[in-house]
Amino acid sequence: RVFKIASIPGDGIGVDITDAAVQVLQKLSSTFGTFSFEFNTLDWSSENYRQRGFYAPQGGVEGLKQYDAIYFGAVGWPDVPDHISLWQMILPIRTTLNQYANVRPTRIIPGTLSPLSACAANPSLLDWVIVRENSEGEYSGHGGTTPSTAHAAHTVATEVSIFTRVGIERIVRFAFETALHRPRKKLTMVTKSNAQRHGMVLWDAIFYEVAKEYEGRVEFDKMLVDAMTVRMVNRPESLDTIVATNLHADILSDLAAALSGSIGIAPSSNLDPTRQFPSMFEPIHGSAPDIAGLGIANPIGAFWSAAEMVRWLAGSDGNSNIVGLVSGPGVGNMVHAADCLMKAIENVTQAGIKTRDLGGASTTKEVTDAVCIEIGQV
Ligand code: NAI
Ligand code: MG
Repeated sequence: RVFKIASIPGDGIGVDITDAAVQVLQKLSSTFGTFSFEFNTLDWSSENYRQRGFYAPQGGVEGLKQYDAIYFGAVGWPDVPDHISLWQMILPIRTTLNQYANVRPTRIIPGTLSPLSACAANPSLLDWVIVRENSEGEYSGHGGTTPSTAHAAHTVATEVSIFTRVGIERIVRFAFETALHRPRKKLTMVTKSNAQRHGMVLWDAIFYEVAKEYEGRVEFDKMLVDAMTVRMVNRPESLDTIVATNLHADILSDLAAALSGSIGIAPSSNLDPTRQFPSMFEPIHGSAPDIAGLGIANPIGAFWSAAEMVRWLAGSDGNSNIVGLVSGPGVGNMVHAADCLMKAIENVTQAGIKTRDLGGASTTKEVTDAVCIEIGQV
């Protein structure tokens, strides 16, 4: 089966790591021979914005519906305000394509070093999936700023979070399903319902409602977000699946990535669990202007995201539940292919072929070539 993939490299290291991921995906498909990818590269970048005034052209985001999946690098550059790059591209894609679940797995892959001494000694202590609400909440975009010209000293800005029953319930249910399909069957919900007494309280209430359906099948508990940061550092083994709002999960997943060794290895899937529209796969890091052009960006987050894309596409025959966990090999044995890609990554890091952020000295190209060689062998 041929999968049509829109690839959006974006800016900075987004371009390097997308090239690397495409190379690895092509190698995977030629090794297996049962599936292939047809990439269409879209030049939706800050350069485009500078020259033509937009990231995606009119109708561009709608046009993504014709693809089987979207592979995304990173967008944003210092000379364009970050809220413009985010709101012109990445957030409209997520909402237009109903990608309401952002799934961010974190574990310590062999050869990478956790700053937590307990995890450095025993990497299996940290194995989480953060489920981020991806369609509303703090990133709804509602609010405004009073005209600041006349009374600049009294400027007021509001940033309104919008939480809906539908939005909360579907992400909570998705998170319970995710937890149910993991070995430890454990879900922790994160809010700030002591200080924020409307939306967060609704989250808590809906969580406990849905939890009734999973009683005895999934173990669950609740945390306030501030205390959660402490628990992630002090008792990583007490956590498994985590569900939180758009903003909270954004922050917690950067912390999770740092605790696992580097933000350069962390993947994410923006899923439309209904499979009506294509889902989007991207490393969680940004365009890293400080190392752009040096050829030293860590491509592992991009490869891991590619593996998650392969796993998701494996279920495109409908033989999967809402989490994209496929029973059996999936289309073209693609579940096995995704596992092989992960194994190839781990063999390479274990062999010490690592970029600088992981304490190594290898370039993006060296890591990519090494992963391709491993794919040919596993
Ligand atoms: P960033 O993730 O780009 O960089 C943070 C730090 O981590 C930097 O020191 C960078 O060198 C390092 N880093 C990130 N990825 C790495 C990799 N693969 N290998 C080695 N080191 C890596 O975050 P920052 O600096 O806050 O944002 C830079 C730009 O990226 C901004 O314009 C921001 O808005 C945008 N951004 C875009 C995202 C997206 O497209 N989804 C996500 C996050 C940020
Ligand atoms: Mg983030």
